[in-house]
Order: sequence, then C-alpha cells, then structure tokens
Amino acid sequence: MKSKPVMKIAGTGHYLPENILTNKDLEKIMDTTDEWITQRVGIKERRVVGDSGMSTSDMATFAARAAIENAGLKPEDIDAIILATVTPDMNFPSTAIFVQKNLGAVNAAAFDVSAACTGWIYAMTIAEGYIMSGKFKNILVIGAEFLTSLADINDRATYVLFGDGAGAVVVQPADNDHGMIGSYIKSNGELAELLWSYGGGTRANKKVPDQEKMFDENGFDKRSTIRMEGNKVYKYAVRAMIESAEKAMEDAGITEEDLTFLIPHQANLRIIDAIAERVKLHDDKVMRNIQYTGNTSSASIPVALDQAIKQGRIKKGDVVLAAAFGGGFTWGGLVLKI
Ligand code: UT7
Repeated sequence: MKSKPVMKIAGTGHYLPENILTNKDLEKIMDTTDEWITQRVGIKERRVVGDSGMSTSDMATFAARAAIENAGLKPEDIDAIILATVTPDMNFPSTAIFVQKNLGAVNAAAFDVSAACTGWIYAMTIAEGYIMSGKFKNILVIGAEFLTSLADINDRATYVLFGDGAGAVVVQPADNDHGMIGSYIKSNGELAELLWSYGGGTRANKKVPDQEKMFDENGFDKRSTIRMEGNKVYKYAVRAMIESAEKAMEDAGITEEDLTFLIPHQANLRIIDAIAERVKLHDDKVMRNIQYTGNTSSASIPVALDQAIKQGRIKKGDVVLAAAFGGGFTWGGLVLKI
C-alpha cells in the first residue's frame, strides 16, 4: 500500500432535490413500465429539480455548505472550488463561481471541470495536484448535475435514467496514511458520439453533413438533449469501469483483498454488480443508491460517499474504491483510505 497519501477527505456533504419522480409517475407520461426500468436499470425513483426553480449551483451550494461544516471550516477558509458538471448554470462564468458567491468563499479560486459522469474523479486528481504543489490547503471538490434539464421526454430509453443532485467533499493535505492513495483517469474521444448532448456550444450553428441526426421523426431538435446508444455504452462501461478499478488499485499498490468498500458510479445496477463481482465484494460492502437517485452523473459518487459515511457503512480505516464512466468517453477510479 502507498505509505503516504498527498490528500485526505476532511468533510463530505450532499444535496438531493425534494421532488420525487417514480417509475409509476413515468408510466403515466410515456410508454414505459416500472418492471422494465427496475429490471434493466434498477431505478425505482429519482430526485428531480422539477418546478422548484433550482439551478445546478443552488444544489452544489447546499452540498458544499454541508461538506464545509462537516470539515469544521468556514467558507472563507476555502482556497479553491473545483466543480464537475455537464449541466452548468450557463456558458460562462463557471458554475463554481456562483457557488463561491452563494457561500461567501471570498478567498477561493473557482472553476468547472467537464468530464461527464467521471467529472468528480477528474476533479479529485486536479485537487491532489494543487495540494501536492503546496498551492492550496482547503479545496472544495463538487459534483453537481441538473441532468433532467437535458432529458428528452420523447426518448424513453434515456428519459427514465436520470436524476438531479450534488455531492461535495473538502480535501486537505494528508497528515498520516489516511487519504487518497491511488487514482486513474482516462478518455477516448473516438467514441464521443455514443453519449453526448451536442447543442449549445460553438459547433451547434455550423452546417454539418449529418443534418438528419439533429431532428427526430417529429421534427424535434435533438441537439439540446442527451443522445445515447445505450447498448454500446453499456458494454464499454463495464470494461472501462473494471479497468478503472484495476488501475486505481495498481496505483495504490493494493489488490482487491485490501478493499473493504466499493462506490461505483450509479448508472445501472447490472454494471454495479459486474464491478462488485470483479473486486469480490459482497452486497453489504457495495454502495447502491441508484434505486432512489437515478443516474446523477458527476454527483453520483460524492453523493453516495457522503451517504455511506453518514449511514455508518464506511468507517475509519476502510479502503474504498470509487469507479466511474461517462460521456467522452471518460473513465477513472480512486482509492481512498478513510
Ligand atoms: O452514466 C453514463 C454511462 N451510462 C451508462 O453506463 C448507461 C449504459 N447503458 C445502459 O444502462 C442500458 O443500455 C440501458 C438501461 C440504457 C438500456 O438497457 P438495454 O438492455 O441496453 O436496452 P435496449 O436499449 O437494448 O432496449 C431494449 C428494448 C427496446 O425494445 P425492442 O427494440 O427490443 O423492442 C427498447 O425500445 O427496450 C425498449 N426500451 C424500453 N421499454 C420500456 C427502451 N427504453 C425503454 C423504457 N421502457 N424506458
């Protein structure tokens, strides 16, 4: 095992919107069934922004406040805010800027990271770099998504999958052998078209050769919503998350025998089961909250981490593996000694 981690988690927090959208609710508005969603994905309900008027930065602020308090700090102690999201408040400034404003974190530098569902893992490796260099001491690392804002109600294969929420941690320099002891991040830009939302950016107005891909049979402009070839993504996701687990463990100098808890990205219960089987961890040592949250992209792991700690499922001394996969494709993993 790596003898000295660079950074430790000093506090955690999360926020999920109050509105609950169940599979039964979805049955009333589209051609789907509770049975299909439960069997294929494992989701029973998801938390959604709905008509609450919240934005991504609002959810992130709630999660961040809880993490700062949990770390015993004040907003002005925060040196940097790194926020992973694919559903920012606006093009610019970053969503992290609004979190800074909401918190009153007047001494921080704030910016966003875009790496889809792997975003929070990417952000953690960036934070580790700052701490290693000695540049910052208290860093907020947030994953926050208003994913239902990108969901296409005409596409039952994606609409049922997503939820909204935010998770946050405060990280600090490690002072003993507890902290982030291994990590791995990777991407493959060849496969961007299998999972993306291609409107909104500077390419949206360009004439592209495949105009027919932009509109569905009803003339609905698909650019502003999530497009996913679920089956292809599924197969790649299983392989990439297993690779993430293996490489993060290798970086930490451990094997699955050393692991005591697993937090996979919550995209599909079947994918979670495949990772759990690979690292040989029993059900009680594997975090599964997708039943209640849906897929919250970059928020999924920090939300699950906070819940697992607060529920007492993760304890001091546990060796926790987190692994994620998402659009890009991007994938990656972390090993945390709690
Ligand atoms: O977080 C980022 C990474 N994302 C992922 O990792 C997601 C990976 N993909 C998946 O989890 C799965 O591919 C899905 C859950 C998205 C889909 O499951 P699947 O077993 O791959 O289903 P499918 O897309 O192959 O569709 C099977 C059938 C189709 O009907 P036919 O053509 O067999 O008659 C679909 O039209 O299920 C139908 N279907 C639905 N039926 C009821 C698709 N969506 C629904 C629905 N309700 N919501």
